[in-house]
Amino acid sequence: MQVDGKQMRPIWFDMESKTVQIIDQRLLPHELVIEDLNTVDDVIRAIKDMYVRGAPLIGATGALGVYVSLVQANHKDSDTAYFEAECARIKDARPTAMNLFWGVDRVRDAVLKETSHGARVRAALAEALAVVEEEAVNCQKIGEHGLSILQEISRQKKGNTVNILTHCNAGWLACVEYGTATAPIYTAFDKHIDLHVWVDETRPLNQGARLTAWELGKHGIRHTVITDNAGGHLMQHGLVDLVIVGTDRTTRAGDVANKIGTYLKALAARDNGIPFYVALPSSTFDWAITDGIKDIPIEERNPDEIRYVQGLLNGKIVSVLVPPENSPAANHAFDVTPARLVTGFITERGICKATEADIMALFPDKGIASR
Ligand code: MRU
Repeated sequence: MQVDGKQMRPIWFDMESKTVQIIDQRLLPHELVIEDLNTVDDVIRAIKDMYVRGAPLIGATGALGVYVSLVQANHKDSDTAYFEAECARIKDARPTAMNLFWGVDRVRDAVLKETSHGARVRAALAEALAVVEEEAVNCQKIGEHGLSILQEISRQKKGNTVNILTHCNAGWLACVEYGTATAPIYTAFDKHIDLHVWVDETRPLNQGARLTAWELGKHGIRHTVITDNAGGHLMQHGLVDLVIVGTDRTTRAGDVANKIGTYLKALAARDNGIPFYVALPSSTFDWAITDGIKDIPIEERNPDEIRYVQGLLNGKIVSVLVPPENSPAANHAFDVTPARLVTGFITERGICKATEADIMALFPDKGIASR
């Protein structure tokens, strides 16, 4: 996507230096810093500490991480047990996003078809780059399918502004291009549909206020940052036409894990008769499970992410303490929205209802997979 006239992605492979490079999203929107991932430890740190984040991007990083595991300086032979252990270490970096396991496994499987080190490296790079490009195309298709929803609301409103509420960052920074929740928004905007986005700030790490607002602003899309608790009020007053969010893992029966607070938006949307859509590529479905509340592991992160808030002060990024020094904090990073609250899924294959029958009708080729 465009950043100040320059084409950017949150991850790429630099052909000249043969290095995986990423945007360090911890510093956005105030600083745009590029980092190299040279070792598996770099890859794990980048995922754990959220230099890269968002389910499809974590998947792409995991996929390229498998390539890194083969070329990192301290490991140049073709020791399969060591290679498998490195893949497992990458998969352990974060527990909720399905894409991480999917991306790592896909490249690992391609590698294990080869025996020589050179062939393994070539297979890893080719497969990882295929993952990256396919996810970009999938998000583009999500945009094309989701466009019909926005067009219909715009038509019903006789061309007046369509107000969309989104939570967290499910934009191109969370993917490779276009985003998931934002893909229909970018597509509709480029087709001159009048729209405006309510951006939940998304405490504690403010992915909405820092990242979604930055992305939308760079694309010239009208948006307003709101507190995480404002959505219900705006819905009651007719100021939200639809909600679109992304997801980190969705069961084959349609339960949706996404950034903490998503469930409350879905409840408010249901109470106010507002459509609540979830946009995702098929790599985010966990085909092996049906009960999201029971079976999706919810990451608990460092409570300091709650206790401290980061921002810009006198041109420097600083962090300040909010609650009393000794108050404990709990940092549940995701919640699960039951399928019954979801109006529909926007996928690369089209739109479907949030039921196992409808999901599997769209993806009949996806068997019950295991990891
Ligand atoms: O903790 P994060 O920033 O990785 O959480 C990201 C989200 O919850 C996104 O909404 C989700 O990954 C969808 S991404 C297109």
